[in-house]
Amino acid sequence: MKYQAILLLTTIGLLSTYYFQKNQHRILTEYQPTIFDWQYCIERTMLKTCDQDDPQDRSNCYQVASNTSQCYSETSQLASTSCIHWWIYFESSQGKDTLPDSFYQCAEDCIEYAQENNFYFSQTFSPMWITCSQQQKKDN
Ligand SMILES: *[C@@H]1O[C@H](CO)[C@@H](O)[C@H](O)[C@H]1NC(C)=O
Repeated sequence: MKYQAILLLTTIGLLSTYYFQKNQHRILTEYQPTIFDWQYCIERTMLKTCDQDDPQDRSNCYQVASNTSQCYSETSQLASTSCIHWWIYFESSQGKDTLPDSFYQCAEDCIEYAQENNFYFSQTFSPMWITCSQQQKKDN
């Protein structure tokens, strides 16, 4: 009898822990941005291009932009495999689809090129590949 009571209490305890965590989880949940979220974020950010860079730095910015796009561009022979997978996904995706792993892997593959120029990195690469692809917090 005593044993059964303990078992029952344990079960109730586990169940309420489960519900509590589930509820917590819902409050704190972070969700993977969708293609729409990502594009909307990019539009709001207004990326800058190398021609808006300091003239002294401009040619380096162009070179780095070119090197980086060779890594991620779908038309480049030198594109990383993840980037190619990302573009294939993108082309058949809908706005409600989430950003796939290949997107994040592509960003990781190409970041080393982008980091060679501060302006390009902070004004173009980061917003598009890092900031706008971060998980978003849901309000409820
Ligand atoms: C661009 O890439 C080439 C070849 O990988 C490299 O030699 C060069 O240093 C890079 N340029 C810049 C500015 O990062």
